[in-house]
Amino acid sequence: MAADKGAFPRIVILTGAGVSAESGLGTFRDKDGLWTKYDLEEVATPQGFARNPALVHDFYNARRANLLGAAPNAAHDALARLQAARPAAVTLVTQNVDDLHERAGAQDVIHMHGELMRARCAACGHVWDAPQVMAPNDPCPACGAPATRPDVVWFGEFPYHMDRIAEALAQADLFVAIGTSGQVYPAAGFVEEAAMSGARTLELNLEPTTARFDEHRSGPASRIVPAWVAELLD
Ligand code: OAD
Repeated sequence: MAADKGAFPRIVILTGAGVSAESGLGTFRDKDGLWTKYDLEEVATPQGFARNPALVHDFYNARRANLLGAAPNAAHDALARLQAARPAAVTLVTQNVDDLHERAGAQDVIHMHGELMRARCAACGHVWDAPQVMAPNDPCPACGAPATRPDVVWFGEFPYHMDRIAEALAQADLFVAIGTSGQVYPAAGFVEEAAMSGARTLELNLEPTTARFDEHRSGPASRIVPAWVAELLD
């Protein structure tokens, strides 16, 4: 759907691990990324959790500790500024389980892969604020079952909020992917979904990941995201 002449575009932004890299949180697939050090089958699948819940909790406890010591960077700040300036026009979707967008001031962030700072009961579905350290037999505060897990989406599980994201993509004039390698579906397919609805597509990343975007800008997120936001707003 094309933007009205002169109207501010409706924008869907998808962020990935690259937006938080300069805050000191590791990415997954870059050199030294998390998936070069850990077996994702063991720590990020329901089967891995069933086999060894303590190992999975250790992995997410360590990531939660890293996150508590991290702070938003200039890219998170710029996206929060854009959203505050144009709340009705901007939909912020993230694959990240960190809360750095929120800590920079963003509202209503759509966490399609869940949130590290939330816990979920695998028995009754109750969700609550995660303690800093979680253990396999922690009881659910609602039903008491010893079935606490991180409220993150693992491989083989359905991402959250897909209806809402599809609706935003169908109405978007501009789709922007920031700091994501485009290796994991369904997020990797958003560029095509948006383009099919007539949106222009833009990638902001250290380097181009694919030729599927109309435009690519290269550089660290802390530099190129504020520059892009300034161009839109100023
Ligand atoms: P990846 O690690 O696959 O990709 C990170 C991307 O960020 C790469 O394309 C890098 O080039 C880019 N990047 C790194 N540093 C950057 C910087 N300073 N500025 C800009 N870009 C930078 O991470 P994701 O694409 O987010 O899912 O991974 C997607 C999903 O795979 C994650 O949500 C996670 C993972 O497995 C689950 O765990 C379910």
